[in-house]
Formats: sequence, C-alpha cells, structure tokens
Amino acid sequence: MRIQTMHDKLYYDDRYVQPNYFRYREWLYRPYVSSLISFSGLKAGSVVLDVGCGQGFFSYLLSKCGTRVHGVDISETGIMAAQNLYGRYGITFEVADIGATEFASKFDVIFVRSCSLYNTESFVSDDEITRRLLRYLKDDGIFIFAYNSAFSSKTSPGWRYHSLHDVAEHFRKYSNKSIFFCNKIDTWLFRRYAFSSFVTRLNALLSKLFGIRGELICVLRGPREAQLQNGQKASGGTNAGPSGEAKPVPSR
Ligand SMILES: C[S@@+](CC[C@H](N)C(=O)[O-])C[C@H]1O[C@@H](n2cnc3c(N)ncnc32)[C@H](O)[C@@H]1O
Repeated sequence: MRIQTMHDKLYYDDRYVQPNYFRYREWLYRPYVSSLISFSGLKAGSVVLDVGCGQGFFSYLLSKCGTRVHGVDISETGIMAAQNLYGRYGITFEVADIGATEFASKFDVIFVRSCSLYNTESFVSDDEITRRLLRYLKDDGIFIFAYNSAFSSKTSPGWRYHSLHDVAEHFRKYSNKSIFFCNKIDTWLFRRYAFSSFVTRLNALLSKLFGIRGELICVLRGPREAQLQNGQKASGGTNAGPSGEAKPVPSR
C-alpha cells in the first residue's frame, strides 16, 4: 500500500514530547465535538475508532460524550502521552500504522481528524486511505472526517489547506454524505445546528477574508452500504450547499 508513514512517525515522535503539543483548549473543542456527535446521531455506548489520535485529546472528548473509544496512532510518544493522560477514563490506545493494521471486530464509528495521511497533494483524486478505513466500519456505521483548514491565500508550513470543493471531490463516490466548514465558535452558539449550509457559507467567507481556520467536516452514514448499493458511480447526496463554491486554496 502506498500510504507513507515513516516521516510522520519521526516527526510526531519528536513533537509529542511536548505536553499538549497542539495547545488544545477543552472549553473551545468540547462543544464542537459534542455538537458533531449529536449531528451525526451517535448513540451512547457506540464504539469509536479514533484514527491518528495523536496525544488523545479528541479520543478523550469523544469518550466524554458517552462513546467507547479506541485510539490508534503511529507515534509511540503520542500514544504514551494519550495513555498517561486519558487511559484512566477507560479509553484504550494502541501504537499502530493504520495502513497495515487489522482489528478483531468492526467499529460503529470511524473518527479521523487531521490525520497526516490526508495531508497530501493527491487528496482530491486518491481515496485509498478512506477506502482502507471503511473496511473497519460496520455496514450501518458512521464515518466522520474532520480536517483543519483555512480558505485564505495564507499557507501553513507542512500542512495543506484543502477546500470544501476538495472534500466534496474526495468523497464524491459516497452517497448520504454531509459536508461542512465549522469554526468551532459556531457550535458554542448554535450547537448541532452549526452544521448547516448557511453557517458553512458564512464560515467560508470569514475564512477567506480573515484567514480564520476551521474544520472541514464530512459525515458519511452507512457509507459501505451505500457504496454496495450504488456502486462506484454514485455521485452522492451531499447536503453541503456551498461545496465547490470555495475556490481551492493552492496546495503545496
Ligand atoms: C496533525 S496530527 C493530528 C492528531 C490528532 N488527530 C488531533 O487532531 O490532534 C496527525 C496524526 O496522524 C498520525 N499518523 C500519521 N500517519 C499515521 C498512520 N499511518 N497510522 C496512524 N497514525 C498516523 C500522526 O502520528 C499524528 O499524530
């Protein structure tokens, strides 16, 4: 499989020595995660695989919402930090290269946020990693993709900012999908209703004008089922009105 991993492992092993490397704040991210869970219709007790969980912050927020989480990451340092910080909440963590791992059973939910495997130039046309992850999902499961991005002309060293259009293209063959751009503060105000095409348009505009970063989201419900029913040609049922409106940001 093409999935490149060694560079990411070394890179993050170095960085995760620093506690809370990404400087996450629970007050900012907690409403975002709980609103996303509510929008996606996750049930309490759902078993979630957090792919590329890093230092485990999102695994922790997911578990706070009543789900049972298993976090995997290729970085040993990251998993050690995650285990130390959040292992006591019943979350399980494992050092694993997601491109070369098999699990004993399938998950109700796959959650993948800003995993480096999506930080590629070929993101739009290559869905190899998504197809791989969907193998771990139950047929009626929920796939949640989240990716940190911005739509201004600003770039970030080492991180490609994908656009709404890129996400729509990447997931084009899957039906029953919802695509949004969320800036997190919106979930403070509107909770699950922040995941709407109106708020997405507003956030995209703010991001274009002021470079405000946010989260590209794609929720697929029962994606494997849909794929089997509709075949590879399915063009999808996105409710993301503005998909394609945001101009692709030049990726490096
Ligand atoms: C930008 S960080 C995001 C971490 C975490 N999801 C978050 O949102 O804070 C990207 C993560 O992807 C992980 N990663 C990269 N390649 C991987 C692979 N093949 N298998 C598992 N994790 C991987 C890295 O180790 C890193 O922790």
